[in-house]
Amino acid sequence: MTRIIIDCDPGIDDAIAILLALASPELDVAAITTVAGNVSLDRTTANGLRLLELAGRGDVPLAAGCDRPLVRVSDRDASEVHAVDGLGGVSLPRPTARPVDEHAVELIARLAVERPTTLVAVGPLTNVALLLARHPAAAARIERIVVMGGSGVGGNVTPAAEFNAWFDPEAASRVFSSGMPITVVGLDATHQATLSAAEVERLGTVGRIGAVAAGMLRFSLDFAEREGREGVAMHDPLAVALLVDPSLVTLEQVAIEVECGLGPARGATIIDRAPSRLTIDYGAIVDRPRFAALLHERFAALGTDGLPG
Ligand code: BDR
Ligand code: CA
Repeated sequence: MTRIIIDCDPGIDDAIAILLALASPELDVAAITTVAGNVSLDRTTANGLRLLELAGRGDVPLAAGCDRPLVRVSDRDASEVHAVDGLGGVSLPRPTARPVDEHAVELIARLAVERPTTLVAVGPLTNVALLLARHPAAAARIERIVVMGGSGVGGNVTPAAEFNAWFDPEAASRVFSSGMPITVVGLDATHQATLSAAEVERLGTVGRIGAVAAGMLRFSLDFAEREGREGVAMHDPLAVALLVDPSLVTLEQVAIEVECGLGPARGATIIDRAPSRLTIDYGAIVDRPRFAALLHERFAALGTDGLPG
Protein backbone atom coordinates (compact mmCIF):
# COMPACT_ATOMS: atom_id res chain seq x y z
CA MET A 1 0.00 0.00 0.00
CA THR A 2 1.35 3.46 -0.89
CA ARG A 3 1.09 6.04 1.87
CA ILE A 4 0.17 9.43 0.39
CA ILE A 5 -0.41 13.02 1.37
CA ILE A 6 -2.63 14.97 -1.03
CA ASP A 7 -1.68 18.65 -1.30
CA CYS A 8 -4.57 20.31 -3.11
CA ASP A 9 -6.87 23.27 -3.78
CA PRO A 10 -10.36 21.72 -4.06
CA GLY A 11 -11.55 22.39 -6.80
CA ILE A 12 -13.89 19.94 -8.56
CA ASP A 13 -11.18 17.71 -10.04
CA ASP A 14 -9.25 17.85 -6.74
CA ALA A 15 -12.44 16.58 -5.08
CA ILE A 16 -12.69 13.64 -7.49
CA ALA A 17 -8.98 12.93 -6.91
CA ILE A 18 -9.44 12.88 -3.12
CA LEU A 19 -12.48 10.59 -3.33
CA LEU A 20 -10.69 8.28 -5.78
CA ALA A 21 -7.75 8.02 -3.37
CA LEU A 22 -10.02 7.31 -0.39
CA ALA A 23 -11.79 4.63 -2.43
CA SER A 24 -8.59 2.87 -3.45
CA PRO A 25 -7.24 0.12 -1.18
CA GLU A 26 -3.82 0.50 -2.86
CA LEU A 27 -3.48 3.92 -1.20
CA ASP A 28 -3.37 5.00 2.44
CA VAL A 29 -4.30 8.70 2.68
CA ALA A 30 -2.22 9.91 5.64
CA ALA A 31 -3.27 13.57 5.35
CA ILE A 32 -4.79 16.24 3.15
CA THR A 33 -3.11 19.64 2.96
CA THR A 34 -4.58 22.69 1.29
CA VAL A 35 -3.27 25.69 -0.59
CA ALA A 36 -4.79 28.76 -2.24
CA GLY A 37 -5.41 28.26 -5.95
CA ASN A 38 -8.72 27.47 -7.58
CA VAL A 39 -10.37 29.47 -4.79
CA SER A 40 -9.10 31.08 -1.57
CA LEU A 41 -7.34 29.06 1.13
CA ASP A 42 -10.37 29.41 3.43
CA ARG A 43 -12.55 27.81 0.80
CA THR A 44 -10.11 25.07 -0.29
CA THR A 45 -9.70 24.14 3.39
CA ALA A 46 -13.45 24.11 4.05
CA ASN A 47 -13.94 22.06 0.88
CA GLY A 48 -11.33 19.51 1.93
CA LEU A 49 -13.15 19.07 5.25
CA ARG A 50 -16.55 18.79 3.53
CA LEU A 51 -15.18 16.05 1.25
CA LEU A 52 -13.73 14.08 4.17
CA GLU A 53 -17.10 14.38 5.92
CA LEU A 54 -18.91 13.20 2.78
CA ALA A 55 -16.61 10.18 2.66
CA GLY A 56 -17.01 9.42 6.36
CA ARG A 57 -13.26 9.99 6.82
CA GLY A 58 -13.14 12.80 9.36
CA ASP A 59 -10.26 10.82 10.90
CA VAL A 60 -7.86 11.93 8.11
CA PRO A 61 -5.94 15.00 9.33
CA LEU A 62 -6.27 18.12 7.19
CA ALA A 63 -3.87 21.04 7.53
CA ALA A 64 -4.19 24.42 5.86
CA GLY A 65 -1.11 25.76 4.10
CA CYS A 66 -0.15 28.86 2.16
CA ASP A 67 -2.81 31.45 1.46
CA ARG A 68 -0.95 33.09 -1.43
CA PRO A 69 1.80 32.37 -3.96
CA LEU A 70 5.45 32.79 -2.96
CA VAL A 71 6.14 36.01 -4.83
CA ARG A 72 3.29 37.53 -6.77
CA VAL A 73 -0.37 37.42 -5.84
CA SER A 74 -2.44 36.84 -8.93
CA ASP A 75 -5.46 38.90 -9.80
CA ARG A 76 -7.73 35.97 -10.59
CA ASP A 77 -8.62 32.50 -9.42
CA ALA A 78 -10.48 29.65 -11.12
CA SER A 79 -13.95 30.15 -9.67
CA GLU A 80 -15.29 30.43 -13.22
CA VAL A 81 -14.15 26.83 -13.76
CA HIS A 82 -15.08 25.40 -10.34
CA ALA A 83 -17.91 27.75 -9.18
CA VAL A 84 -17.67 30.38 -6.47
CA ASP A 85 -17.64 27.72 -3.73
CA GLY A 86 -15.00 25.71 -5.64
CA LEU A 87 -17.14 22.57 -5.83
CA GLY A 88 -19.69 23.28 -8.54
CA GLY A 89 -22.28 24.59 -6.09
CA VAL A 90 -23.35 21.07 -5.00
CA SER A 91 -24.58 20.63 -1.48
CA LEU A 92 -22.13 18.84 0.77
CA PRO A 93 -22.30 18.02 4.48
CA ARG A 94 -21.15 20.62 6.97
CA PRO A 95 -17.92 19.28 8.46
CA THR A 96 -17.69 18.35 12.12
CA ALA A 97 -13.86 18.16 12.01
CA ARG A 98 -11.57 21.17 12.00
CA PRO A 99 -8.16 21.62 10.39
CA VAL A 100 -5.33 20.41 12.60
CA ASP A 101 -3.44 23.03 14.55
CA GLU A 102 -0.32 22.79 12.39
CA HIS A 103 0.70 24.44 9.11
CA ALA A 104 0.52 22.14 6.07
CA VAL A 105 4.27 22.40 5.53
CA GLU A 106 5.00 21.32 9.12
CA LEU A 107 2.56 18.41 8.87
CA ILE A 108 4.08 17.18 5.59
CA ALA A 109 7.59 17.42 7.06
CA ARG A 110 6.58 15.49 10.19
CA LEU A 111 4.80 12.71 8.30
CA ALA A 112 7.57 12.40 5.70
CA VAL A 113 10.19 11.51 8.29
CA GLU A 114 7.86 9.13 10.12
CA ARG A 115 7.37 6.65 7.27
CA PRO A 116 7.92 6.44 3.50
CA THR A 117 5.48 8.87 1.94
CA THR A 118 4.46 9.91 -1.55
CA LEU A 119 3.28 13.48 -1.96
CA VAL A 120 0.50 14.01 -4.52
CA ALA A 121 0.52 17.73 -5.34
CA VAL A 122 -2.47 18.77 -7.44
CA GLY A 123 -2.66 22.49 -6.71
CA PRO A 124 -0.19 25.36 -7.06
CA LEU A 125 3.18 24.20 -5.68
CA THR A 126 3.50 26.87 -2.97
CA ASN A 127 3.40 24.47 -0.01
CA VAL A 128 5.90 22.10 -1.66
CA ALA A 129 8.35 24.88 -2.48
CA LEU A 130 8.11 26.15 1.09
CA LEU A 131 8.71 22.62 2.37
CA LEU A 132 11.90 22.43 0.29
CA ALA A 133 13.09 25.75 1.68
CA ARG A 134 12.14 25.20 5.32
CA HIS A 135 12.61 21.46 5.78
CA PRO A 136 15.12 20.25 3.18
CA ALA A 137 16.03 17.14 5.19
CA ALA A 138 12.40 16.09 5.55
CA ALA A 139 11.75 16.90 1.88
CA ALA A 140 14.65 14.63 0.95
CA ARG A 141 12.87 11.77 2.76
CA ILE A 142 9.80 12.03 0.51
CA GLU A 143 9.80 8.88 -1.59
CA ARG A 144 8.20 10.41 -4.63
CA ILE A 145 6.19 13.44 -5.60
CA VAL A 146 3.45 13.22 -8.21
CA VAL A 147 2.43 16.62 -9.55
CA MET A 148 -0.45 17.76 -11.72
CA GLY A 149 0.86 20.87 -13.41
CA GLY A 150 2.45 22.37 -16.47
CA SER A 151 1.93 21.75 -20.14
CA GLY A 152 3.87 21.13 -23.30
CA VAL A 153 0.80 21.77 -25.44
CA GLY A 154 -0.22 25.34 -24.58
CA GLY A 155 -2.10 26.66 -21.60
CA ASN A 156 -5.58 26.53 -20.11
CA VAL A 157 -5.51 29.76 -18.10
CA THR A 158 -3.50 31.82 -20.60
CA PRO A 159 -2.45 30.76 -24.09
CA ALA A 160 0.96 29.87 -22.60
CA ALA A 161 0.33 28.53 -19.11
CA GLU A 162 -1.43 25.77 -17.25
CA PHE A 163 -3.28 26.97 -14.13
CA ASN A 164 -1.18 25.42 -11.31
CA ALA A 165 2.13 26.52 -12.87
CA TRP A 166 0.70 29.97 -13.69
CA PHE A 167 -0.67 30.59 -10.19
CA ASP A 168 2.77 30.17 -8.57
CA PRO A 169 5.51 29.88 -11.20
CA GLU A 170 8.34 30.57 -8.76
CA ALA A 171 7.18 27.64 -6.62
CA ALA A 172 6.81 25.38 -9.68
CA SER A 173 10.30 26.31 -10.82
CA ARG A 174 11.73 25.50 -7.38
CA VAL A 175 10.02 22.09 -7.29
CA PHE A 176 10.75 21.08 -10.89
CA SER A 177 14.46 21.86 -10.41
CA SER A 178 14.69 20.25 -6.96
CA GLY A 179 16.07 16.89 -8.07
CA MET A 180 13.37 15.09 -6.02
CA PRO A 181 12.02 11.88 -7.58
CA ILE A 182 9.20 13.56 -9.43
CA THR A 183 6.44 12.49 -11.79
CA VAL A 184 4.40 15.17 -13.54
CA VAL A 185 1.15 14.94 -15.42
CA GLY A 186 0.68 18.09 -17.45
CA LEU A 187 -2.06 19.01 -19.88
CA ASP A 188 -0.39 16.79 -22.51
CA ALA A 189 -1.63 13.82 -20.47
CA THR A 190 -4.66 15.20 -18.65
CA HIS A 191 -6.34 16.42 -21.82
CA GLN A 192 -6.44 12.75 -22.82
CA ALA A 193 -8.02 11.81 -19.47
CA THR A 194 -11.55 12.95 -20.21
CA LEU A 195 -14.98 11.77 -19.17
CA SER A 196 -17.87 12.22 -21.60
CA ALA A 197 -21.25 13.58 -20.54
CA ALA A 198 -22.63 10.04 -20.77
CA GLU A 199 -19.87 8.71 -18.50
CA VAL A 200 -20.59 11.46 -15.96
CA GLU A 201 -24.28 10.50 -15.99
CA ARG A 202 -23.37 6.84 -15.45
CA LEU A 203 -21.19 7.85 -12.50
CA GLY A 204 -24.22 9.63 -11.08
CA THR A 205 -26.11 6.33 -10.86
CA VAL A 206 -23.66 4.39 -8.70
CA GLY A 207 -24.62 5.63 -5.25
CA ARG A 208 -24.58 8.61 -2.92
CA ILE A 209 -20.99 9.68 -3.55
CA GLY A 210 -21.18 8.99 -7.28
CA ALA A 211 -24.22 11.27 -7.38
CA VAL A 212 -22.31 14.08 -5.67
CA ALA A 213 -19.34 13.58 -8.03
CA ALA A 214 -21.64 13.74 -11.06
CA GLY A 215 -23.25 16.90 -9.68
CA MET A 216 -19.87 18.61 -9.51
CA LEU A 217 -18.76 17.30 -12.90
CA ARG A 218 -21.92 18.62 -14.60
CA PHE A 219 -20.69 22.10 -13.68
CA SER A 220 -17.32 21.29 -15.32
CA LEU A 221 -19.04 19.86 -18.41
CA ASP A 222 -21.07 23.05 -18.84
CA PHE A 223 -17.92 25.13 -18.58
CA ALA A 224 -16.08 22.90 -21.09
CA GLU A 225 -19.01 23.14 -23.49
CA ARG A 226 -18.99 26.93 -23.29
CA GLU A 227 -15.26 26.76 -24.15
CA GLY A 228 -16.05 24.56 -27.15
CA ARG A 229 -14.61 21.36 -25.67
CA GLU A 230 -16.37 18.03 -25.37
CA GLY A 231 -16.07 16.08 -22.13
CA VAL A 232 -14.36 17.05 -18.90
CA ALA A 233 -10.59 16.69 -18.37
CA MET A 234 -9.87 14.86 -15.13
CA HIS A 235 -6.56 16.58 -14.40
CA ASP A 236 -6.03 15.84 -10.72
CA PRO A 237 -7.61 12.35 -10.64
CA LEU A 238 -5.02 11.25 -13.21
CA ALA A 239 -2.23 11.96 -10.69
CA VAL A 240 -3.92 9.64 -8.18
CA ALA A 241 -4.86 7.05 -10.80
CA LEU A 242 -1.27 6.54 -11.90
CA LEU A 243 -0.39 5.54 -8.34
CA VAL A 244 -3.27 3.07 -8.27
CA ASP A 245 -2.35 1.60 -11.67
CA PRO A 246 0.94 2.80 -13.20
CA SER A 247 0.09 1.12 -16.51
CA LEU A 248 -2.58 3.79 -17.16
CA VAL A 249 0.02 6.43 -18.06
CA THR A 250 3.07 6.00 -20.27
CA LEU A 251 5.86 8.24 -19.00
CA GLU A 252 8.80 9.82 -20.80
CA GLN A 253 11.82 11.50 -19.24
CA VAL A 254 12.17 15.27 -19.51
CA ALA A 255 13.37 18.36 -17.68
CA ILE A 256 10.95 21.24 -17.08
CA GLU A 257 11.77 24.93 -16.90
CA VAL A 258 9.20 27.49 -15.82
CA GLU A 259 8.88 30.99 -17.21
CA CYS A 260 8.82 33.36 -14.23
CA GLY A 261 8.86 36.65 -16.13
CA LEU A 262 5.90 38.97 -15.76
CA GLY A 263 4.91 38.99 -19.44
CA PRO A 264 2.27 36.98 -21.29
CA ALA A 265 4.28 33.75 -21.02
CA ARG A 266 4.34 33.83 -17.20
CA GLY A 267 3.87 30.27 -15.89
CA ALA A 268 4.63 28.58 -19.22
CA THR A 269 6.54 25.32 -18.84
CA ILE A 270 9.27 24.47 -21.30
CA ILE A 271 9.56 20.72 -21.71
CA ASP A 272 13.19 19.88 -22.39
CA ARG A 273 14.04 16.47 -23.84
CA ALA A 274 17.82 17.00 -24.08
CA PRO A 275 19.34 13.62 -23.10
CA SER A 276 21.77 15.18 -20.61
CA ARG A 277 19.05 16.86 -18.53
CA LEU A 278 16.37 14.25 -17.91
CA THR A 279 15.18 14.51 -14.30
CA ILE A 280 11.40 14.22 -14.41
CA ASP A 281 8.99 11.44 -15.43
CA TYR A 282 6.39 13.18 -17.58
CA GLY A 283 2.99 11.81 -18.58
CA ALA A 284 2.80 11.24 -22.33
CA ILE A 285 0.09 8.73 -23.22
CA VAL A 286 -3.03 7.89 -21.21
CA ASP A 287 -5.08 4.72 -21.58
CA ARG A 288 -8.36 6.66 -21.47
CA PRO A 289 -10.84 3.75 -21.55
CA ARG A 290 -9.13 2.01 -18.63
CA PHE A 291 -8.79 5.29 -16.71
CA ALA A 292 -12.53 5.97 -17.11
CA ALA A 293 -13.31 2.39 -16.11
CA LEU A 294 -11.17 2.72 -12.96
CA LEU A 295 -13.04 5.86 -11.89
CA HIS A 296 -16.39 4.19 -12.45
CA GLU A 297 -15.37 1.01 -10.63
CA ARG A 298 -13.98 2.86 -7.60
CA PHE A 299 -16.96 5.20 -7.21
CA ALA A 300 -19.32 2.23 -7.61
CA ALA A 301 -17.42 0.44 -4.83
CA LEU A 302 -18.24 3.31 -2.49
CA GLY A 303 -21.81 2.04 -2.51
CA THR A 304 -24.60 4.07 -1.04
CA ASP A 305 -23.43 4.36 2.53
CA GLY A 306 -19.94 5.71 2.28
CA LEU A 307 -16.55 4.19 1.81
CA PRO A 308 -15.53 0.59 2.34
CA GLY A 309 -13.49 -0.20 5.40
C1 BDR B 1 -5.36 22.30 -12.70
O1 BDR B 1 -5.87 23.60 -12.41
C2 BDR B 1 -6.94 23.51 -11.51
O2 BDR B 1 -7.98 24.36 -11.90
C3 BDR B 1 -7.33 22.07 -11.44
O3 BDR B 1 -7.79 21.73 -10.15
C4 BDR B 1 -6.07 21.32 -11.79
O4 BDR B 1 -5.29 21.07 -10.65
C5 BDR B 1 -5.56 22.02 -14.17
O5 BDR B 1 -4.86 22.98 -14.95
CA1 CA C 1 -6.20 21.30 -8.40
